[in-house]
Amino acid sequence: MTEPAPRETVGEPLVVRTPEELRRALAGTGRVALVPTMGALHGGHRSLMRLARSRAETVVVSIFVNPLQFGPNEDLDRYPRDLPGDTLLCAEEGVDVVFAPETGTVYPLPQMVTVDAGSMGERLEGASRPGHFTGVLTVVAKLFNLVRPDLAVFGAKDAQQIALVRRMVADLDLPVEIVGAPTLRDPDGLASSSRNVYLSARERTSALALSRALRAGAEAAPGGAEAVRGAALAVLAEAAEAVPPVRLDYLALVDPATFAEAGADHRGEAVLAVAARVGATRLIDNVSVTL
Ligand code: PAF
Repeated sequence: MTEPAPRETVGEPLVVRTPEELRRALAGTGRVALVPTMGALHGGHRSLMRLARSRAETVVVSIFVNPLQFGPNEDLDRYPRDLPGDTLLCAEEGVDVVFAPETGTVYPLPQMVTVDAGSMGERLEGASRPGHFTGVLTVVAKLFNLVRPDLAVFGAKDAQQIALVRRMVADLDLPVEIVGAPTLRDPDGLASSSRNVYLSARERTSALALSRALRAGAEAAPGGAEAVRGAALAVLAEAAEAVPPVRLDYLALVDPATFAEAGADHRGEAVLAVAARVGATRLIDNVSVTL
């Protein structure tokens, strides 16, 4: 999928800041679809909004940079924020309501009770970013309770996130349908991400090794799990020597239901996931493979 072209502005979305304003905005509307975001919206978010629009009468986009999902040394302070630009993009996509609460509105008290992401939340992204998925699931649960959507759309680029959200919905009987949207890629293969804006031109060129590695891995699928891992790692080993280098955090082939490493004899669906740093920017990507 490549970047969807912006549309003419369809109409200004209603921008609401508090749960009370949100309830008023959503009173008497039909089926509601929520697209949860942290803002810095890009083409990938446009495709989530279009999927939401095709499935519901009312589309709500939440824009909230959630401090609970950032570690102490992560990019919370420098995470890109642009509410006017984001609202314009939402207007172009015909979004009905933008919910952009302040941190103190979402977390009026220090958060004591959280949603534990369990063992799946400790693997891959969770191992590199301790506490990250507890922060994600806690804010997603809060957003579900505040917006009360019929369905919520998440991008497949964050494969572990959407798997955990699905599991939370199942384990806690939350009345929300979870819809996954395919990863949007630039024509050169780079997966759309709000963090791509951090990349210099040279870093961006190096970063293409992530999607190249995943493609090489997927093409090796007929040879089994070890062949997939080997083909992807060969591309990443070369990228580690590039200037600037790609510094691998993890490359893993995992079971999509648990995110536990797929054994050499794994058959059926698997997720090949990668995380790496290029310069100061940490990027993730993944593809589904059938073994
Ligand atoms: O994917 C994101 O942007 C965030 O993790 C989410 C789901 C909006 C929760 O803060």
